Formats: sequence, structure tokens, C-alpha cells
Amino acid sequence: MASLMHLLLPVAVALGAVQLIGGYSFNNCIAKPNLNGKNVQCVNRKAKTMVAIIKDLPPSVVNLTISHNPVWHIPSNSFAHLPNLQYLSIDQNKLDVIDQLAFRNLSNLQSLNLSLNNLPQLNPLLFENLNNLSFLSLMNNKLKELPEGIFSNVLHLETLVLRKNHLTNFSRIVKTVSHLKYLKVLDLGSNNLTSLSHSNVSLPKSVTNLYLCRNNLYTLGCTLSFLSGIVVLDLSYNSKLPAMAFHGVNMSSVKMLHLHSTSVNVVEFLKISNMNTSSIDLSGTGLKNDSLVREVCLLLKRRHIGIKKLELGDNEIKNLTSFPLSYCPKITGELDLSRNHLKRMICFNFLNRQKHVKTFKAEHNLLTSLPSCMRQNMVYFKSLETLSYRYNRIISVSSHAFYHTPNIKILQLNINNIAFLDRKALKGLKRLETLRLDNNLLTDLFKDTFEDHFNLEVLNLRNNRISVIFKWTFQNLRNLKILDLGGNKISQIQPSGLDGLINLSKLYLDGNNLKTIDTSFYHVFQDTLTVLDLQSNQIRFFTENLNSPFMNLSKLSDLKLDGQRPYGLTLLPHTLFRGLYSLRSLYLTNNKIFHLAPETFDDLTSLQFLTLDNCCVGVAQLQPGIFKNLRNLTKLVVENMGIQNFSKDVFGNLTNLRILQLNRNVMQSIPVDALESLPTLNYLDIRNIPLTCTCQNNLLQNYTVHHPNVQVVYLYHLRCPQNRNQSFYNFDTKVCYIDLGEYLFFTTAAVIFLFTVAPLLYVKLYWKMKYGYYVFRSWFSEQWSRIREKEENCKYDAFISYNSSDEDWVMDQLLPNLEGNGSSFKLCLHHRDFELGRDIVDNIVNAVYSSRKTICVVSRSFLRSEWCSLEIQLASYRLFDEHRDVLLLVFLEPIYERQLSSYHRMRKVMLKKTYLQWPGSDCINPPQAQELFWNQLRRAIRTGSRLEREENDNGECVAPENKETKYFENDFDENSYLLP
Ligand SMILES: *[C@@H]1O[C@H](CO)[C@@H](O)[C@H](O)[C@H]1NC(C)=O
Ligand SMILES: *[C@@H]1O[C@H](CO)[C@@H](O)[C@H](O)[C@H]1NC(C)=O
Ligand SMILES: *[C@@H]1O[C@H](CO)[C@@H](O)[C@H](O)[C@H]1NC(C)=O
Repeated sequence: MASLMHLLLPVAVALGAVQLIGGYSFNNCIAKPNLNGKNVQCVNRKAKTMVAIIKDLPPSVVNLTISHNPVWHIPSNSFAHLPNLQYLSIDQNKLDVIDQLAFRNLSNLQSLNLSLNNLPQLNPLLFENLNNLSFLSLMNNKLKELPEGIFSNVLHLETLVLRKNHLTNFSRIVKTVSHLKYLKVLDLGSNNLTSLSHSNVSLPKSVTNLYLCRNNLYTLGCTLSFLSGIVVLDLSYNSKLPAMAFHGVNMSSVKMLHLHSTSVNVVEFLKISNMNTSSIDLSGTGLKNDSLVREVCLLLKRRHIGIKKLELGDNEIKNLTSFPLSYCPKITGELDLSRNHLKRMICFNFLNRQKHVKTFKAEHNLLTSLPSCMRQNMVYFKSLETLSYRYNRIISVSSHAFYHTPNIKILQLNINNIAFLDRKALKGLKRLETLRLDNNLLTDLFKDTFEDHFNLEVLNLRNNRISVIFKWTFQNLRNLKILDLGGNKISQIQPSGLDGLINLSKLYLDGNNLKTIDTSFYHVFQDTLTVLDLQSNQIRFFTENLNSPFMNLSKLSDLKLDGQRPYGLTLLPHTLFRGLYSLRSLYLTNNKIFHLAPETFDDLTSLQFLTLDNCCVGVAQLQPGIFKNLRNLTKLVVENMGIQNFSKDVFGNLTNLRILQLNRNVMQSIPVDALESLPTLNYLDIRNIPLTCTCQNNLLQNYTVHHPNVQVVYLYHLRCPQNRNQSFYNFDTKVCYIDLGEYLFFTTAAVIFLFTVAPLLYVKLYWKMKYGYYVFRSWFSEQWSRIREKEENCKYDAFISYNSSDEDWVMDQLLPNLEGNGSSFKLCLHHRDFELGRDIVDNIVNAVYSSRKTICVVSRSFLRSEWCSLEIQLASYRLFDEHRDVLLLVFLEPIYERQLSSYHRMRKVMLKKTYLQWPGSDCINPPQAQELFWNQLRRAIRTGSRLEREENDNGECVAPENKETKYFENDFDENSYLLP
């Protein structure tokens, strides 16, 4: 374990940002659904290192394909974590280097495919541990040589494919494989071998198939017994190889020899070779003229062996009129004349006495017509069962064209230009089982076209130009199982057009121009039809409530209705699928359906596969319960449907769903409880969905990353829509796990409360609040100033609070009388003593607290000034809090109580407080009155301010004198300020 960790460590480091995570989704691979994660494919990824591709695969993987990736290197121990691998394909990458220990621990590996890479060489110990390997392909690389001993431990190898490399040394190859006693197939095609010379070792006896095509062999050069065990020998496309090369070589086992495009003269070869000629491929050997063919035939005949297969393809044979096949031994199997230049083939005249041919092929020739063969002195070829004229240029087939071959079972006329098929062309083929007429230009089928084909099972008419199916066309095809009419122009099927097809199982009508599905057509198939393909027609429905044309198809298991042209089905009647209790697959893609009624799929209780991919117009509202009866559904494709909400109501009943393809939809989140209601879900594709990386999806993130059974396709490559650099699987979800609901409730409640109450307070309690605020501040600064007071005594005797309109009185009267005139009080005046640049409120607070008294000069203007109110407030606060009476009110003019009514806060204070009334300077009041006023004021300033005596040790400004504080006459209840 420690060593494993040691090995994996650099891996983890190399991966850097990518963390190793549990769960069941892979970075660059997809496990095939339904196979318990045993079959994994890592195809077409951008990752450049092997480690990045496979490091997160679980040990259970058995079958692994790594294709089409820019990987060039397989480091040691790459697969150490996958000890159960049996099939490994690392084909079509850019492999260049494979480290010696790359395949360590793969002792269970049976098949290794390294095809289509750039390997220039192999480490001699590379396959050391692959004791169970039976298949190895190194096809399409750049190998020049095989290291000696490379297969020394691969003792179970059966197939070795080295095709398409640059190998030159045959001797070395033989040496490396000579001990492999199970080796059967050795493919050395497309290399640079020039001969088969070898040292004293030989190929294992087990080798039966030796492929040496497309090399540069100019001779064989091997020992005479070297090929004695070979059954299939391919020497084709060794253009310099002469017949002489086979001189004396024992080829007695060879049953199939390919000599295409060599310099071998067949006549010469047959003279010297002892090969078994029962099957012989003489294609591409230049046998174009009749005399050569005759000679070959005579040589073959000399061996007294019948021929099972004779291939004469690719010999530029033009004319068969005097073709000398009659000189050949009896051909009992297949005769192949494909890829020649044949233009005419008149009723097998050339076959002459070869009446036992079973299979005849003349594909890829230039035939243009098949004439009638009903004539006198007709030779019948009653053994012929398979006849193929594929890939010719046949335009017309005359009546009774197959009269001479009455027993054919398989007739292939496909891929021609047949426009004219006589009504009687196929007459008499009563044993016909398979008829291929696809890819021609047929326009009409007649009642008698298929008259005799009682035994026909497969009829392929795909890709012709048939537009109408006339009545009774197929009436005798009572054994037909598969009828392919796809890719025609059928717009009409006449009533009774499909009558007689009482055993039809699969009907393909895709790619036609059908506009309706007539209920009457299908009653004939009631208990037989299993597949009905109506893809890409022009079917539309015009009523929601129709009698389902599929009503009686009780065995129907596959129904394709996808891609109706040009605008799609648009209307999908909710009754359409009534009664299809056996249906297993339903295709509805590309149909621009604008409404899927919730009861549409109600009867489809056997449905296993449903694809609605791109079925609907824009934003599809899947109705709750639409899938309610689909309890057997295992695969659902709902790609690109504009689904906005994935909900339990809609998807919750799919209790057997394994595969869900949701990609290319528009939901921003997927509720995890909806996914959790799909207990067997195994494969989930949510690519190209704008899932937000917000708390909405934090549970989804956890589900996708940690769910032990659900594979999310390429999860680690899903990006956040807001930020493409951010991955979905690891966006930050910490914030989501505080109780969001509670948090939101309280925040919202607080905000609402503030917005409701603030205006009220503003209206009702503006002043109160403002005062409260300043009171708090003054309390605060007072706590602070108490400390300061210890050090410095009060700066001022009195702070004069007045309104600027009363400034004249303050300057002319107050100042001279208190600061000058023998009494030397130190006064604080805002215009003179306030600190510049400091907040006015702070200045006021400071002034009140650094003065023993606060004298408020009350006038009507004063009452109108809010600052003055503040000063009173602060001063009275000191009264209440410190029990220190600092407030002196001086009324400059008579103020009535009601004038204070709107300043009720101040009024309250004033009602409790004593005040001095300025007598004025008019005639009514004598100057003595003013003198008295000043005296009273001076006394009041001097007076101690403590109402209740306490220890005088805490830095009081002035030692209080006595308790007698009533220094004025007043009308109010002075006791009210004696606070407890
Ligand atoms: C891999 O093989 C090596 C040597 O053959 C062995 O020491 C090691 O334990 C194996 N590791 C695993 C994970 O099986
Ligand atoms: C190996 O890979 C090549 C190239 O992709 C492919 O053609 C071939 O079929 C594969 N062989 C096997 C046995 O899988
Ligand atoms: C995350 O997912 C795992 C596995 O599905 C589950 O056990 C766990 O409770 C989930 N955690 C949260 C916070 O939802």
C-alpha cells in the first residue's frame, strides 16, 4: 500500500488542482451504463497525460478504451490501480513512449490494442507481466523492429497484429514469436518485408493465418516446410513476387491463398505448387483472356478436386461468350466474378456445364440489363441459391429474367439504376427468401410484381422512387417478416395496399411523404408487427381526440415518429399511443410539439426507452404525471427541450430509470429530492445546462460529487454559467450551510420593521430621538470627562447659550456685567470660545461640560433654534445624572407657557426649573431692577451646584457652599426637581 501511495503521489502532484474525489463520476471517462462500471471509455478528451485520464477510475473496470486523446506517453504503473482489466484499447492516440513498467499489474489482461499511434520502438520488457494476453494489436505504428524476447512471457498470445509498421526483419519476428504455442494469427501486412528468410527457428505450429500482403516480397526464401501449417495465406500486393518463389514450398495445408497484384503467373504457380485448390482466390492475377482461364481450369481439373470457391475478381474480364469455365472441375460452391468489366450476362450461358454453383456474384461490373431467360433449350441452374448483381448499372430487368435460376433464395439487385422492373421480372422465384431491390430508381410496384414470393421473408425497397402503394401489391407475401420501404416518395397507401402481410414484423416507412396514418392499414398487422418506423414523413394530426391508428398493434415494441417534415407533428393527440401496452421504444425527437398532455403516455407500461430529444417547441412544460405509468422506463432522453424545471411531480415516478439525458435544457437548478426519487439512476447527463453556482444548487453539487451510484457525465468539466473559470463541482458552498431561512427571516423582519417604524418615529419622535442621541453622546463624553476633570478644573464659570439675534444683549449687557465690573467670571461664548473646525455638537457638549453653569438666554428666537434646545437638554441631563444643577434660564422677554407648547420637552424642563426674568431697560422697571438681576445671576453662578451632597473628592469644579439654592422667586413647583 505504501508503495502504491508512493507511486500515486507524483500523480496527485502532477494533477495539481484536480482533487481526488470519491463518488462515481470521472474526469475524462464515461462508464457505460448498466454494466456496473465495468466498461469505461475515455474518448476524445483534451487531457494530455495518461494519469489525468484514468487516475480516477475504480479497480472494478474490466474493459477500458482510451481513444482519440493527445496522449503521447504511458508512464510506469499507469494501470496499477486497475488490476481487473481484461480488455484495454489505447488506440488512435499519439503514443510515442511507453515506459517499461507501464502495464505492470495487468495480469488479467486478455486483449491489448495499441493501434494507430506513433510508437517507433518498444521496450523489451514491456509485456513482461501480461501472462494472460491473447490478443495484441500494434497496427499502424512506426515500429522498425521487434526487440528480442519481447513476447517471452506472453505465452497465451493467439493473435498478433503488426500490420502497417515499418518492419523489415522477418527473421527477427519469427524468433520473437517462435515459442508462442497458441499463436494462430500473425498479421504482418503493410510492412517492408522483402523475403521470408529466417534462421533455424520456425513459426509455431499453431499458426494458421499468415497475412503478408502489401510488403516488398520478391521471393519467399523460407525453408520448404515453413508454410506447411498455414491455412490462410495472404501474399497479395507484393508486386515483385514471382511464381518461381513457390518452387518446392510445401503448401499442402493452404486452403485460401491470395495472390492479388503479385507477379505470380497462375499457370506456372499451379504447375509447381501443391496447394489445396478447393478454394482459390485468383482475383487480380491477370486472368483476362480465355486461353489463360482455360489453362488454369485444366490445371485445376488435373487435381481431381472439386472447387468450393473460385474467385476470379479484378481480372478485367470483359466478355463471357466463350468463357471456358466448362474446363474447370465441378464448382460446387461460390463463383465470384466481381470487379471485372462485364457488360452482359446472358442467362449464364457461359456457366455451361457448371450447374452446381450455389452462389454467384458479379458485383461491381458494368451490367446494364438483365434479359428474359425464358426461351427454348433453356439450361436451368437449379442449385443456385444466392445471386448478387450489386453495384452494377442495371437499368431494366425483363420479364422472367430469373427463369433459369428458379431456386434462388437470396437475390441482390441493390445499388443499381433499375427503373424498369417488369411485372413478371421476378416470376417463378417461389423459394426466394431475401430480395434486395434497394437503392434503385423504381417508381411502381404492381400487383403481380411479387406474385410468386410466398416464401419471401425480407423485402428491401429502400431508396427508390415509389410514390404509391397500390392495392394488393403485397398480397401473396404471407411469410414476409421485414418490409423496408424507407426513403421513397410514398404519399399514399391505397386501401388494401398492405393486405396480405399477415406475418409482417418490421415495417419501415421512414423518409416518405405520408401525411396521415390511416387506421385501416394496420389492422392487418394486429398480432405481428413489432417495429414501425414512420420517421421523417409529413404526418400531422389535426385533432386532439382521434382514434389511435396504433390501437390494435398489440405486439408493437418499437415506434418511430421522429422528425416529421417540414414543421414537425406540432399536435400530438393524447390518444395516439392508446393500447400500446407492449411498446418498448418510442422516438419523438424533432417534432416541434407544442403540448404534451399529461395522459399521453399512460398506456405505455412496458416502455423502456423514450426519446423526446428536441421534440417540442421552445420551452416545454412537462406536465406533472406525464411519466406516471412508465415504471419500466430505463432510458429517457429529454435533451434540448427547453425544460425550465426539473421536478419530482414530473420525473418522480420513473422508478426503474437508469439513464437520464437532460443536457441542453434551461433549468438553473435541479432539486436533489427529485433526483433521489429515481432510485436506480445510474447515468446522468447534465451538460450544457445553466446550473447556477449558488446555494440553490449546493445540495445538487454534493449529490453529483458524492452519490455512490450516479455517474454524472464529465462532471468535473461542468462550468458555472456566471463564471466559466469556475467549476460546478467545487464552487464554494460554505455560506449555504448556515440556516438560510432563519437568517433571511430575521434580516427581512428587521428591515421591514425599520422601514415601517422609521417614518413614524421621524414624525412623532424626531426631537426625542435627536435628543436621545445627544444625551447618549453627552453621557459618553461625560464619562470620559470625569476622568479629565480630576486633572483640570472647569475651564469656564458659565457657558452662555443664546441665539445670535440676542447677541447684542449678550455683548452689551451680559459680558460687561459678568466678566468686567468687578466680578471676574470666565464665560464661554460660542462665537469666541468654540474650537474652530470642530463639530458644533461636540463644541456644545464640550462647552456644557467644561463650564460650571449653562446660562440659557431665552428669547423667542432662541426657542426657534434647535441648537439652543440641545444646550438645554444637555444641561438638564447633567442635572438628572450628576445631580448637579448647571442650568440657569434667563428670559429676555416674557414667554408664556403656551409658546413653549411645541417644545414640550424643553417645556417640561422649564416647568421644573427656576428662571430669571430680565427686567428690560424701559421706564417701568427701574435701574435697580437690573442691578438686582445681575446680583442674582452672579450669585447663582457662584452657587454650588450639588443638590445632594456627596463626598467632594472627585474633582468637583467648585466646592459647593450650601444647600440653599433657591435664589429667585418663581411660580413653579421647585421641589419637582428634587430627584430621589
Ligand atoms: C503491482 O505489481 C507489483 C510487482 O509485480 C507488486 O509489488 C505490487 O504489489 C502490485 N500492486 C498492486 C496494487 O497490485
Ligand atoms: C483496435 O483499434 C483499431 C483502431 O481503432 C480498430 O480498428 C480495431 O478494430 C481494434 N481492434 C480490436 C480487436 O478492438
Ligand atoms: C452529500 O451527499 C452524500 C451522499 O449522497 C450524503 O450522504 C450527505 O448527507 C450529503 N450531504 C449534505 C450536506 O447534503
